[in-house]
Amino acid sequence: SEELAPVVTIDGPSGTGKGTLANLLARKLDWHYLDSGALYRAVAWTALRDGLALEEREEESLGELARTLNIRFEPAAEGPVRVYIDGQEVTQELRSGPISEGASVVAAMQPVRDGLLELQRSFRRPPGLVADGRDMGTVVFPEAPAKIFLTATAEERARRRYEQLRAHETDVTLERITQELRQRDERDAHRNVAPLRASEGAYIIDTTNISIDAVLAEALERVRRCIPGK
Ligand code: DC
Repeated sequence: SEELAPVVTIDGPSGTGKGTLANLLARKLDWHYLDSGALYRAVAWTALRDGLALEEREEESLGELARTLNIRFEPAAEGPVRVYIDGQEVTQELRSGPISEGASVVAAMQPVRDGLLELQRSFRRPPGLVADGRDMGTVVFPEAPAKIFLTATAEERARRRYEQLRAHETDVTLERITQELRQRDERDAHRNVAPLRASEGAYIIDTTNISIDAVLAEALERVRRCIPGK
């Protein structure tokens, strides 16, 4: 049944290679993929489009916006999954600095997190789901049979983010990226609602010094151990 489709959760801070691992794992298993960070980014993007301030006084409106978000993911033959909001393609815009910042702000609001719960759980369909985020193993899919938590040093994560952004933006500096990353880490880890932490029973992989192939191999081994038949 739908309820029983298996889930692999992949949580951790940004720059640990979560997105890359989750994508590769979903392809390898031929399962669905949920990029939950894109949902928080989409809430921020839609709020800014509609002129809603990302402030506490708008929490309830932002929660309603999250609950009614009209988002569609379209896997592309090449490159990242394409994202559409109300039919408009926003794939690149969602990765911008202001949207990253806005996503981190709305992600700290309980009504927004509640508003996205059902949508996130609807991605759990046969034959299975790989769910990537911060609270996949702790809040959204606490019953997941396989949970993975990725870590890496702040320096290494900032370096990876810098390499990514440099391809699209000309005015990035490693110093600025490092500072922004520390600020967002601080907010994600210390917010009152769903703070970032490894779920009980999560398998922790430190990706600082290992290749993505090695991370994938370790994750696959873990999945096969936790989910018989995979
Ligand atoms: O993974 P990302 O950088 O796309 O996430 C964007 C923001 O959303 C980031 O500040 C963390 C937050 N987030 C969250 O709180 N819970 C999730 N499940 C996914 C992302």
